[in-house]
Amino acid sequence: MNQPAAERYRVLDELRLIGAGGTNKVMAGELSRLVRRALSDARLPEPRKEGQGALVYPFEPRVAKVAALYHRTCVRVLWDVMETRAVRLEPLFADLVQAGAACVQRFLWNGARLSVYAHGVQDFAAGERQIVGTVKNALIEAAGQHGMTVTLDPENPDVLFCARLSEGVMRVSVDLAGRPMNQRGYRHERAEAPLREDLAAVMLMLARYDARSELLVDPMAGSGTLAIEAACMASARSLWVPPRKPLLLDMPAFAGVAPDSSEPLFADTQACVIASDIDPEMRAITQRAAERAGVASSLRVITSDLRALDPARIVELSAACAGGRTKGLIISNPPYGERLDDADLDELYRSLGRFCRQLPGWRAAFLVANRSFEACFGGRPRIKKPLSNGPLPAYFYLYDL
Ligand SMILES: C[S@@+](CC[C@H](N)C(=O)[O-])C[C@H]1O[C@@H](n2cnc3c(N)ncnc32)[C@H](O)[C@@H]1O
Repeated sequence: MNQPAAERYRVLDELRLIGAGGTNKVMAGELSRLVRRALSDARLPEPRKEGQGALVYPFEPRVAKVAALYHRTCVRVLWDVMETRAVRLEPLFADLVQAGAACVQRFLWNGARLSVYAHGVQDFAAGERQIVGTVKNALIEAAGQHGMTVTLDPENPDVLFCARLSEGVMRVSVDLAGRPMNQRGYRHERAEAPLREDLAAVMLMLARYDARSELLVDPMAGSGTLAIEAACMASARSLWVPPRKPLLLDMPAFAGVAPDSSEPLFADTQACVIASDIDPEMRAITQRAAERAGVASSLRVITSDLRALDPARIVELSAACAGGRTKGLIISNPPYGERLDDADLDELYRSLGRFCRQLPGWRAAFLVANRSFEACFGGRPRIKKPLSNGPLPAYFYLYDL
């Protein structure tokens, strides 16, 4: 391409939230709730939607900080700083040096350590490592033009950059968390088929869980992701479990930017959650993770076959925290068939249907990647929405019971 360099590249200043496919509405809803609470005078404009799992807002440091600290349904919060339509390494380098010279002072400082990763760059005419090296060199060069010495430190960066190729545009962004945000820091032990934390949060948002008025029951809780996320969302806790924290907290661009602490935004709301699983090992795993997340007092964790649960047991288990709450949300991510044969799985889904229908006036929400679920569970879902669980195409179901 012989496009003049000045037409190829642009300096950007936008905030990008990236989540799983199909979550744009949920991500926007969560951000607007958090910003309303944390920043009473901030107005959040309507985001631009890019594909199924990306929202773009004008960059506002306070909103970026709220997102990187509290936003549970996205996996990355990026500050888009420049882009280019360069298709080879030399113009990529030249463009990023020129664009970088115009903006590096916003996000780099003398002595900063940086690292770069690339995403979705298969269609670029160079390998991933070459792209990463070129972006890194361009940033170092651009910083040098302002008299700043910055160094590469992939192990321990102060600033992590992401280079993403999308529709022929290579966009460079600062990854404000510095790691995937589903890695909250409370999960230390692996269970069988754990749900990703951001997807658990998406399910809770789609089901419109209201912790102030509803109990929450996960009858097949595994390692407790839904239960823990529900309890954390109830009081809008920071998603990071200390000592883990987002990189932006130590970046000069965010020094003195509100909010000035990472305290829960709804500290006075305490959830009442029951997490149950047939596998006795899950109880201790869930309990320990809930303690690390700081929400153990909201959870009652038990070992039980879901067929042994009934309304009387739910009342008994929730007695200590229910307050006036008598109805609620059943939410779960049941087995899809990895360890059970089809007949057993169908029977499990039928049992789940029977259990749920003992709780009229409640709602029930599930993420399932098994076609026989709907018929076996029975009834008609109010919402049925495709929502992939990692590589597995799955559906989110919401029932009024
Ligand atoms: C896909 S896993 C749930 C994963 C969980 N969401 C997490 O994040 O760890 C399904 C769980 O259902 C549990 N399970 C299977 N049959 C059950 C039954 N009859 N009663 C209760 N739990 C059951 C399994 O032990 C397993 O932990």
